[in-house]
Amino acid sequence: MLQPIALANTHMECRYLKETVPVMTDLLAFEKVAEHPGEVTLKHPNTDWLLIVHEAGPEASVKQMHNHWGVRVMTREEVDAAYEYLTAHKEEYGLKQIGKPYYNHGSYSVYFLEPGTNGWEIECYADVLRKEREWSRRGGVRAPHWEAPLPPEHFPGRGYVPQGFTHGTLACGELKVSWDFYTKVLGLEVHQANDHVVYIKHPKTKCYVVCAVRKEWKTFSPNFRFTISLESKEAVAEAHRWLAESGKGLGMTELRDLQSSGPAFSFLLSDPDRNWWEISSPN
Ligand SMILES: [Fe+2]
Repeated sequence: MLQPIALANTHMECRYLKETVPVMTDLLAFEKVAEHPGEVTLKHPNTDWLLIVHEAGPEASVKQMHNHWGVRVMTREEVDAAYEYLTAHKEEYGLKQIGKPYYNHGSYSVYFLEPGTNGWEIECYADVLRKEREWSRRGGVRAPHWEAPLPPEHFPGRGYVPQGFTHGTLACGELKVSWDFYTKVLGLEVHQANDHVVYIKHPKTKCYVVCAVRKEWKTFSPNFRFTISLESKEAVAEAHRWLAESGKGLGMTELRDLQSSGPAFSFLLSDPDRNWWEISSPN
């Protein structure tokens, strides 16, 4: 089993960075922290997770809404304000679809599609937060994800302030098989939300991945992936050796070569549902 030190980053594929990045910065409060040809790294000021966005051009795979990412606001009123603001600026940002806010699994949320084919959620768990017994369960995924909330002046003029980048999502076919892979191979925690949804996380990091059972789902390129950090280059090399030897018998569907990039080692693997994961040493 891998011994991760964090669920560290996530990667998203878009059509054009010039269309998608303004949605992330202007509507979801991300900040650009690095830029390379065809790739932009974004960070939310209250969240350690990095969001690396890859430009794939017009051929970028269209995601289904069950492959989305989410940011969190503090109040229900902010979700309603976000719906109003997104609707008023739909043309300007090329938003493809904006759903009316609704309650789902304890969260009051608005979902929309950005022009680069990805679904996003602006969620609020204010009702759950009134009952500590509720939010302290399930690995604390519904607990506040920030130490101190951002003040309204940090993100003025919209009527809402995304306070944290909280989650991404995956689809799986058979929960028991995927659960075993996440825990016994990837070394992550799994918390059950209901019969067909689990939360995957690392105990020391707040961001999580929602995994929902689906009858059908699309598979994507490794441009859509989650990154797990191991403590050192040596640990990554050893993990690669172990998976090359034993991974297929444990449900791994593909293993890519070990790569070195600057001081870091990394490699890609796909899980039993053909979702991609990156295993990396800290940069
Ligand atoms: Fe979500």
